Amino acid sequence: MSKVQVMDHPLIQHKISYIRREDVGSKEFREIVSEISALMCYEATRDLKLKDVKIQTPICEMTGKELSGKKMAVVPILRAGLGMVDGILSLIPAAKVGHIGLYRDPETFQPIEYFCKLPADCEEREVFVVDPMLATGGSCAAAVQLLKEKGVRHMRLMCIIAAPEGVERMQKEHPDVDLYIGALDERLNEHKYIVPGLGDAGDRIFGTK
Ligand code: PRP
Ligand code: URA
Repeated sequence: MSKVQVMDHPLIQHKISYIRREDVGSKEFREIVSEISALMCYEATRDLKLKDVKIQTPICEMTGKELSGKKMAVVPILRAGLGMVDGILSLIPAAKVGHIGLYRDPETFQPIEYFCKLPADCEEREVFVVDPMLATGGSCAAAVQLLKEKGVRHMRLMCIIAAPEGVERMQKEHPDVDLYIGALDERLNEHKYIVPGLGDAGDRIFGTK
């Protein structure tokens, strides 16, 4: 069974509460999504492996530490996942970026794929799949499935707000993928929106409503 880590860091909780407010406009929403993503990335990378490395400081030689595990990639689920990329790259600038385009059919709620472009060596990388919203879990489960079909074996999923239904679906379909969640909300409504949630993340990031 995968690990589910709900972020309890006060800065993350504070910023998530802020962007839930309906009167927060796109500019501020985007900026804070980016800040939350960086903070979540910091928390979600605590277990990265390190190796000893000999370095020369201006004073003396010493044994320091550097990352030793797989190289990383970030794969946002379009559109809303794009809002999380810059925050993550601010901490992991060498990560490559892939894109998976999925939208949720408003009537069937099924994810529909329209784009996929991944780093050539993505199967050798540790991949962070990112999407602000895990609602039914259909989009994230489909993105992870697509990445598995492309050969990716090591993935983590990072979502700012999740519904219990989405967490359950991910754990059932992809028990090998750890979940990092900013806030675990109550439920889905009849339109499969997260309650209390923050509304439509893509529309709020890009100002399309
Ligand atoms: C939103 C969100 C997720 C998906 C979550 O995207 O960003 O990708 O819905 O819902 P699910 O867990 O029930 O699949 P949307 O389909 O609205 O597309 P957009 O990002 O282009 O707005
Ligand atoms: N997609 C969103 O953007 N918000 C939700 O609450 C559910 C799906």
